[in-house]
Amino acid sequence: MRAPAKINLHLGVGPSREDGYHQLATVYQAIGLYDDVTATEADDWSVSVTVTADLDASEVPLDGSNIAIRAGHLLCAHHGIERAARLEIAKSIPVAGGLAGGSADAAAALVALDRLWDLQTSDDDLLAIAGRLGSDVPFALVGGTAYGTGRGELVEPVTDHGHWWWVVVPNAVGLSTAAVYAEYDALGLGEHLRPPQGLFSALAEARPERLAAELHNDLEPAALELRPDLLDIRHEIETAGGYAALLSGSGPTWLALAGDADHARDVASELARDHDVVLCAPGPVAGAHVVTYA
Ligand code: C5P
Repeated sequence: MRAPAKINLHLGVGPSREDGYHQLATVYQAIGLYDDVTATEADDWSVSVTVTADLDASEVPLDGSNIAIRAGHLLCAHHGIERAARLEIAKSIPVAGGLAGGSADAAAALVALDRLWDLQTSDDDLLAIAGRLGSDVPFALVGGTAYGTGRGELVEPVTDHGHWWWVVVPNAVGLSTAAVYAEYDALGLGEHLRPPQGLFSALAEARPERLAAELHNDLEPAALELRPDLLDIRHEIETAGGYAALLSGSGPTWLALAGDADHARDVASELARDHDVVLCAPGPVAGAHVVTYA
């Protein structure tokens, strides 16, 4: 199974709730960076991680705390079965980058195991299990462009007529999502949430200049407070000719919106002068789906 990275075109963050999570009004888009998960029947649970060139996955746990194995346990508990599998994760999504790579692994593992054991879990049940694993996991199942509410786990599709191109600038040093939300609270930034109507119109109109004006991330000030060095990259993107710079989720990955694939390549080659890894990715793309290797 293959599952995509996500970005947040709008990330509205309300005050923290009683359970410690924050109420969100967010617009997700799945982009063309993927992790693949292969599941094989085994006597005991295990997980391995391989990476595409230039990625550092040394922080990804290789024991039962790995989110893909937790997905397996929850799926077994849901069906009242005791089984185990070997999970092989091939990572292309930067780790701790605000791109929901762990959530992609969890979504891919859920569907891979469901297929492996022919459990025929309903879509509603898969989404509910995904929501327990993490706020972004349900979106990794559905993909496309979607409006997320609750703590991000309630997703509904959004009309999106665009074929967008993003330049993705990962950062060598990851940021903890929990730390960025804690900083957000410390700064006292929680506000009343409302659906981003201007963004919905821009997605339906499919014009990059219009979308650029509607991109917004409430977590940006908190991430910049923790990592002031990130501001330089925002300026570099603006200089490199991207339509807009957007912090991806809780960061530290930056995104530049480009007009088309050629524009994305131009902006990426400009940014590659100062950054070891710069990627181009289209969006929206599908959620978790089967791939066959040649
Ligand atoms: O749901 P997930 O495990 O991805 O969230 C990681 C952390 O991010 C949470 O433990 C919490 O500190 C923070 N978070 C939050 N509000 C959300 C989503 C995440 O405070 N809506």
